[in-house]
Amino acid sequence: MPQSQYHPLQFNPQTKEPFLRLPSPHEHIILTPPRTSDGPAIFSHMSDPRVYSWLEGPPFPYRPEHAEQWISMIKKDADAALEVLRIASEADPDAPPVLVSACPVRCIREVRDDGSDIFLGDIAILRERWPDESDEDAQKALKDPNYERPLGDPEIVWCFGDYIAASHQGRGIMSVAIRTLIHEWAVPRMGVRQIRVETFEENLGSRRVFEKNGFVYEKTTPMERKLESGRLVKGMHILWWKAQ
Ligand SMILES: CC(C)(COP(=O)(O)OP(=O)(O)OC[C@H]1O[C@@H](n2cnc3c(N)ncnc32)[C@H](O)[C@@H]1OP(=O)(O)O)[C@@H](O)C(=O)NCCC(=O)NCCS
Repeated sequence: MPQSQYHPLQFNPQTKEPFLRLPSPHEHIILTPPRTSDGPAIFSHMSDPRVYSWLEGPPFPYRPEHAEQWISMIKKDADAALEVLRIASEADPDAPPVLVSACPVRCIREVRDDGSDIFLGDIAILRERWPDESDEDAQKALKDPNYERPLGDPEIVWCFGDYIAASHQGRGIMSVAIRTLIHEWAVPRMGVRQIRVETFEENLGSRRVFEKNGFVYEKTTPMERKLESGRLVKGMHILWWKAQ
């Protein structure tokens, strides 16, 4: 039987919002597209050192407008991915599922008994940018061709960015979210064949999450990088996942 162009996304019958549900025992956790109403929750997580001090990307100090800018940026990508699926579905709903360049669902939410949900975090899969490479020219020489490769090219190197609210860390949620995203979306719907991730040397929890998902440690890149948050990064672990 042909699969929907949206497979394996489901749709909330009330709001019509697409979502991907994590498997048991985390079926109360779903991934959805970003919402314009997420600003206050994102601002709150990005103001918590148990989250921001482990991340290199977000500005510091984080202001509410940073969250608004972030949402409008990632919402554009999610909307574009959904539009590709909508067009493919309208053109020929029975055709084999098309490849898309992004995952339209990335916001981690906990669904409560009354059906409402709370924003817990973010998990994104995007093309690798080699943030551990401190030589700008060397970084560009890796990054540019990686961005130019056509979707579906098995040589594309992808990476993950992720965080979850301090209140929900250590419950196994990110391990399952990463597993679900790789196997339910990244491989079948984005054609992902290899993923490279970096974690700060001291971020044993993040490293463990990736290792539990089949990522293999490659090396530790030494560095002396002072983040605006005050963290001094002395090294980044590099790990790889490759499709069998
Ligand atoms: C890192 C992070 C994403 C992990 O998500 P999570 O949902 O808490 O992870 P899980 O509960 O699925 O798994 C964590 C694993 O790391 C282990 N772990 C956590 N802290 C650890 C530590 N200090 N030393 C060793 N292992 C540790 C846990 O025991 C668990 O492994 P286990 O299942 O074998 O027991 C989350 O803690 C987070 O958002 N941190 C702040 C932002 C961040 O670091 N993002 C990643 C940037 S690379």
